[in-house]
Amino acid sequence: MSEPEAHWGSQLDVGVEAVDRQHRQLVALVDALESATEGSREAIHSVLKALLTLTRRHFDTEQKLMRESNYLGRVTHEAEHRQLLARIERLLEAQASGRAAATNELVRSLRPWLRDHVQGLDRALATHLQARAVGEPKA
Ligand SMILES: [Fe+2]
Ligand SMILES: [Fe+2]
Repeated sequence: MSEPEAHWGSQLDVGVEAVDRQHRQLVALVDALESATEGSREAIHSVLKALLTLTRRHFDTEQKLMRESNYLGRVTHEAEHRQLLARIERLLEAQASGRAAATNELVRSLRPWLRDHVQGLDRALATHLQARAVGEPKA
């Protein structure tokens, strides 16, 4: 069972609407993944594939914003993105080969990773974007 405080809250919003919306979708999939670990391998696999697709799309969004705004922290930020993608790919491998213990451990690590990344590097990026007034639709 998940701790209530482990779930998404407005304290994790960074203030860039497109990014916050994708973060909420990612957390919803992490929630779904945690629920699916008690279900069939097929159910876990389909949630994992959806998580990989959405994560790639989300990182593309952030990386485009970083490029367009000449963000100095881009290299470090993109390196963390690559680490998370590698983690999800390892998870898919572990799951496909039936290693339940490794799968569960990787699933449990996703939520704290996402929270730390959002509160750290994503928040710093959002502050930079807000200062430059890019990343938000024009009023
Ligand atoms: Fe990020
Ligand atoms: Fe993000």
